[in-house]
Amino acid sequence: MEKKKIYITRKLPQAIYTKLADEFEVKMWDKEDQPVPREILMEEVKEIDGLFCLLTETIDREVIENAPRLKVIANMAVGYNNIDIDTATEKGIVVTNTPGVLTETTADLTFALLMATARRVIEASDYLRNGEWKTWSPMQLTGQDIHGATLGIIGMGRIGQALVKRAKGFDMNVAYYNRSRKPEIEEEMGIRYMGLEELLQQSDYVSLLIPYSPAVHHLIGKKELSLMKQSAILINTARGGIVDESALFNALKTGEIWAAGLDVFEVEPMLLDSPLLTLPNVVTLPHIGSASEKTRLKMADLAAENIIHVLNGGAPITAVNGRAK
Ligand code: DGY
Repeated sequence: MEKKKIYITRKLPQAIYTKLADEFEVKMWDKEDQPVPREILMEEVKEIDGLFCLLTETIDREVIENAPRLKVIANMAVGYNNIDIDTATEKGIVVTNTPGVLTETTADLTFALLMATARRVIEASDYLRNGEWKTWSPMQLTGQDIHGATLGIIGMGRIGQALVKRAKGFDMNVAYYNRSRKPEIEEEMGIRYMGLEELLQQSDYVSLLIPYSPAVHHLIGKKELSLMKQSAILINTARGGIVDESALFNALKTGEIWAAGLDVFEVEPMLLDSPLLTLPNVVTLPHIGSASEKTRLKMADLAAENIIHVLNGGAPITAVNGRAK
């Protein structure tokens, strides 16, 4: 019997590649640090049954319509705003993501970024390396306290809840805003629900942990930033499009808010001429929320397993849509 065909859009660790190659005819874009060019992707999808992709690929209607045999798109990420889910569903294609396996790792990085921003860790390290450290002085490189402060989390999903555990370990007060209230989590974790405006006004730290969709595009803009405390810190480890970056630049430049820690950007990779990079009160990371060795392997493995399950006629493990046909 002819083997089913799959295409992998980035060079994967050998063990994951082998797992897929044992069952299917596999082609893989063989570069680690460069996404597959769109025209090659368009060509490669023509005869495939399964697609293993990353958040760097835009899987829109044009790509999907070029792949008449496609049965499954497995995204190696929990977010899937790079995929046109409606079109996939309309064509009967299962789309899967990788929830669960990256929760703790992403919460770790979110808290690390919060701490680095609050205590000016990167700036202080550069200060020493640049030879600026001449003496100890009372108000040198002073930051914001983390213990006892109020953390407002926007989005109380898995990662939000994992962040609460870390915050509680630092004696923080935690408030959250979410589309739907979660009374059992409030009770269990000792956190308070607030409306968005109240949360922005009350929080010392605002952490964004909602999935991106057009409905939350620029959820944090000029007006929302103006509601925040002057000593407040914004942390974004979700998706860049949730924040209006030019409004954020102005708020940081004029001291309307104190600092920001950003792992995600409206355009990725972040453009080096971005005005945000001129500000000392911004910590920028290259989208590394889930980047631990173990977690990235688990994400790749889960995406591979989803393809194996679906192409062998079983149910996907972590589908984001139903089978439409
Ligand atoms: C995701 O999974 O959506 C992250 O942004 C990358 O791990």
